[in-house]
Amino acid sequence: MNSDEKKEKAAQKAMAFVTPGMTLGLGTGSTAAKFVDLVGAAVADGLDLVCIPTSEATRAQAAALNIPLTTLDETPHLDVTVDGADELDEHLRLVKGGGGALLREKIVATASDKMVVIADDSKYVEMLGQFPLPIEVVQFGLKSSLMMIESLAGRVGCKGDIVQRMKEDGTPFITDNGNFILDCHFGRIEKPEALSGALTQVPGVVENGLFLGIADVALIAGDEGITQLEFGF
Ligand code: A5P
Repeated sequence: MNSDEKKEKAAQKAMAFVTPGMTLGLGTGSTAAKFVDLVGAAVADGLDLVCIPTSEATRAQAAALNIPLTTLDETPHLDVTVDGADELDEHLRLVKGGGGALLREKIVATASDKMVVIADDSKYVEMLGQFPLPIEVVQFGLKSSLMMIESLAGRVGCKGDIVQRMKEDGTPFITDNGNFILDCHFGRIEKPEALSGALTQVPGVVENGLFLGIADVALIAGDEGITQLEFGF
């Protein structure tokens, strides 16, 4: 099975968490997009629910599929959010933000009773950090924020290049919230909780891509089927 087929299998399995009348968070990325397609098909078949997208890209996809949408301001609490991940470990700690949507993804996931992660088995790692950790920072004072991140991360054992994310045309990547992204090539994040805590000390940091104690279930698709990991219940 190729990774695309695995993503599809994980997305299909996540449909078991979707029930009529619920408020559902829709993640961002190629795996989440497959789930959104399935929700769209279920809505076309008569499923009644309302969804909150975690990015403008997902909003556009969901709207094109006629999925009923609301906002967190209208509906501040969700039942379930289904989203992908760039990395996850056995404690259901995640690195997210490869698509740059980490802030809205974290806001929506933490406003949900349950976060379900869908992924192919290449995302499952023994230690987080091989995938560069995305950090969303305000545009003002970028260099100062970068230097402060470098220093504080170093104190908790994380060293490596920190690079501003750019688009293919050479201009800075701007998030849906109007901020920049710094990608931190740490290689290994031995103490994710300590790193996340350190990053909150940097005033220019809006949010980081470590999702700690947020995910409840992971559906990991491999050649032999789906492995379901559960945390905290
Ligand atoms: C978006 O910002 C990310 O958090 C995605 O959820 C993550 O990058 C996974 O994306 P893929 O499903 O495309 O690998």
